[in-house]
Amino acid sequence: MNSVQSQGTALVTGASSGIGAVYAQRLASRGFDLLLVARDQQRLDEAASKLRAEYGVQVEVVKADLTQKDDVFKLEQRLRSDSSISLLLNNAGVAADGLLGNADTDQLERMIQLNVTTVTRLASAAASSFAKAGRGTIINIASVVALFPERFNATYSASKAYVLSLTQSLNAELDGTGVKVQAVLPGVTRTEIWERSGIDASQIPAEMVMEAGEMVDAALSGLDQGELVTIPSLPDVADWDKFVAARYVMAPNLSKSKAAARYK
Ligand SMILES: NC(=O)c1ccc[n+]([C@@H]2O[C@H](COP(=O)([O-])OP(=O)(O)OC[C@H]3O[C@@H](n4cnc5c(N)ncnc54)[C@H](OP(=O)(O)O)[C@@H]3O)[C@@H](O)[C@H]2O)c1
Repeated sequence: MNSVQSQGTALVTGASSGIGAVYAQRLASRGFDLLLVARDQQRLDEAASKLRAEYGVQVEVVKADLTQKDDVFKLEQRLRSDSSISLLLNNAGVAADGLLGNADTDQLERMIQLNVTTVTRLASAAASSFAKAGRGTIINIASVVALFPERFNATYSASKAYVLSLTQSLNAELDGTGVKVQAVLPGVTRTEIWERSGIDASQIPAEMVMEAGEMVDAALSGLDQGELVTIPSLPDVADWDKFVAARYVMAPNLSKSKAAARYK
C-alpha cells in the first residue's frame, strides 16, 4: 500500500473509461480520495477496488446519467454540502459525427446536456463551495476543436468552445479566492470516444493520436505549472500566448459608441 496524505476528495465525472479513468488513477497516486461518477457501475466498482488496494485511498462510486437533471442535481448538492471535496474534474463527454444539416437533433441535445449544461451546473456548485473554503481546483476537459471548429462536428466543437470560454470567465471570477481553474484541450486521444460516436479512428494519422496516459500526465503538469489553459501537444506555448494577446489588441475597440468607418 502506497498511502499518501489525503489531498481531499476529487469528484471525477466519466471515470469509467478513457481520460477520466486515467485521471482517477493519477489523482489516487497523488493522495486524493475519489468520488467516481459514470453510468457503468460495474466498471466503476472494478476501478474503485483496484485503486483502494493500490493507493490506500477512499473511493466512492456514484452511478449517474449526467444527461438526467435529477442525477446532476444530486451531484450539485453533494458538491455544495461535502466540504471534503477539493477537486472537480468535469470530464464526462460524448462526441458526434456528421453534418449539422443531417443531424439527429435529439442526440445533439443530449450531447449539449452532457458537454455543456452538466459541466456548467457542476462548475457552479464547485465554484461556490470552493470559494467559501478558499481552496480547491476545477478542471474542465475541453478540446483543441474549440480552436478549430471547421475541422470537426459543429455541435461538439461548439460545446468545447463553450467549455473553454466558461473556464476563462470562471477563472477571472475566482481571481483571489484561492481556487485554481484549468481548461484542458486534448487533441486526438486514444479512448473509446471514437467508437462510441461512430467515427473510424483508424483513419487518423498515428502521429496525431496521443495515448490517454501521456495526455493526462501533461495536463497535470500544466496544472502544477499554474496554467489556465493546457494544450498537451503544443510544442511552443508562445503560440498560445500570441493567440491570447491578439484578443487584448482588439479589446479597447470591441465596444464603442460609433460603428467602424467601413460600415458607413
Ligand atoms: N478522446 C479524444 O480524442 C478527446 C479529445 C478531446 C477531448 N476529449 C474529451 O475528453 C473527455 C473524456 O472523453 P474520453 O475520450 O475519455 O471518452 P470515453 O472513453 O468515451 O469516456 C467518456 C466517459 O464519459 C462517461 N459518460 C458518457 N456519457 C455519460 C452520461 N450520460 N452520464 C455520465 N457519464 C457519461 C462515460 O462513462 P459511462 O459510459 O459509464 O457513463 C466515460 O466514463 C470528454 O469530455 C471528451 O469530449 C476527448
